[in-house]
Amino acid sequence: MPDLPHADIQGFILRTYAMPALRVFALTIAQPAAARQFLGGLVNGGNSPQLSTATDWTVKPPYCLNVGLTYTGLAALGLSPLSLASFPEEFAAGAPARAQRVGDTGESSPEHWKDQFASPALHLLLFLFAETEEILEHVTGQLRELYSGRNAMSELSVHDGRSLPGNVAHFGYRDGFAQPTIDGGLPPLMPDVLPKAPAGEFLLGYPSQYSDFTYPVPTPDALGRNGSFVAFRILSQDCRGFEQFLTEAAHQTGFDRELIAAKLCGRWRDGVPLSLSPHSADERIPLEKRNSFDYVPGDSMPDAFDDRRGYRCPLGSHIRRMNPRNAIVAGNSGLKHRIVRRGLPYGPPYDPANPDDGIERGLLGLFIGVSLKDQFEFLMSDWANKGSFAPGLGGTRDPLIGDNGNNAGSAATFLIPIEGQRRPVEVTGLTSFVTCRGAAYCFLPSATAIRYLSALPAATS
Ligand code: HEM
Repeated sequence: MPDLPHADIQGFILRTYAMPALRVFALTIAQPAAARQFLGGLVNGGNSPQLSTATDWTVKPPYCLNVGLTYTGLAALGLSPLSLASFPEEFAAGAPARAQRVGDTGESSPEHWKDQFASPALHLLLFLFAETEEILEHVTGQLRELYSGRNAMSELSVHDGRSLPGNVAHFGYRDGFAQPTIDGGLPPLMPDVLPKAPAGEFLLGYPSQYSDFTYPVPTPDALGRNGSFVAFRILSQDCRGFEQFLTEAAHQTGFDRELIAAKLCGRWRDGVPLSLSPHSADERIPLEKRNSFDYVPGDSMPDAFDDRRGYRCPLGSHIRRMNPRNAIVAGNSGLKHRIVRRGLPYGPPYDPANPDDGIERGLLGLFIGVSLKDQFEFLMSDWANKGSFAPGLGGTRDPLIGDNGNNAGSAATFLIPIEGQRRPVEVTGLTSFVTCRGAAYCFLPSATAIRYLSALPAATS
């Protein structure tokens, strides 16, 4: 087990904060020297808001603060061309340039993104998680004072997320069960039957999920080591369209609409996985057991139901696509593309009695991994938006997040395999229920790296 320097690692890489409020500040650097000073202030041990690291908690703090920098942000801070060139190409290109690859097309394409997310002026994101509204406002005030001071940075936009009653995401599914357990990280919140993910799958500088391979650490070492990357995404959700689809799919198939909802996700809306309870949302399965499953028997779970054909959990369901666990996929790489998920929903709960309230709602999603290309982008391009990586997908896409828009044609279909039937039940008429409204690729520097950045010489800026 690697001895990870928890006090150097941004907290949300290794820990779920489980706080009900999130505010994301999208900032542009105006005065590099003042911006460097602001960053230094986050790690100086002083009384102003400090970076939250993965250090063990005795008492949970009232808020947590993390920071991400885009490639243009690193350049604006004055990082040398040599250092800049040592970052991975997908990060350097940035989220707008990589949009096509991850299925951000049509309404999700960067030309429609809001608040300058498609602009190189987006330099820095602050992620402020808080236990109460009062704390959120208080720390917001402190941060604003600090980054406006000496005109360090100006706000491009601010985005608020809030937990919804019952810890559900919009579309009504309870979230927060599956996360990779990281070797050398913190104990998982609930029992995890899958093998631990190597530290180097989530942190720069450690052996990765591929044997004898460590992802290149951006130089110098003080800058790269113990850092990571995040794809931040503002994902608007069409709750009305989703609920309508469930009703239509129930008519098409004769299945209960809640069963359709479960088949699309791989979990019932209360979070019970189909793999453990294929016929009903069995509430007797306790919360802490709801991540103890696999799709085929193996080392992780010798007594798992053999669901290689997807009779319980369809091969194309959201969670099976995003983490096929030990089921067969092309390259047999089921456990090589894991991702840490953080974030919170935004917008009020959807009220079916008032479907046209005109309010945007969705998810402020953070998808963290050591390689944006092999983790976030791979999940979106190969597993969400292609239907050939596992037998039985029939060219379809992810029913929740796939690019099922106007050009999807027959791909906008969902297949429900049924035991004893040669052909799966086909549900047609999927649309893109999720639209990307803005995205950013950020480097998540360690505390050491933030000190390094804050001390960059003025001459290079
Ligand atoms: C608005 C968009 C999204 C919604 C509504 C959504 C919904 C869900 C739900 C309800 C779960 C089950 C909860 C759990 O297992 O803890 C889940 C799991 C998951 N989602 Fe999503 N998701 C969204 C976007 C994404 C994106 C963009 C990605 C990938 C980049 C992703 C990757 C995953 C992964 C990896 C899991 C865990 C699967 C497992 O380990 O079993 N999701 N999602």
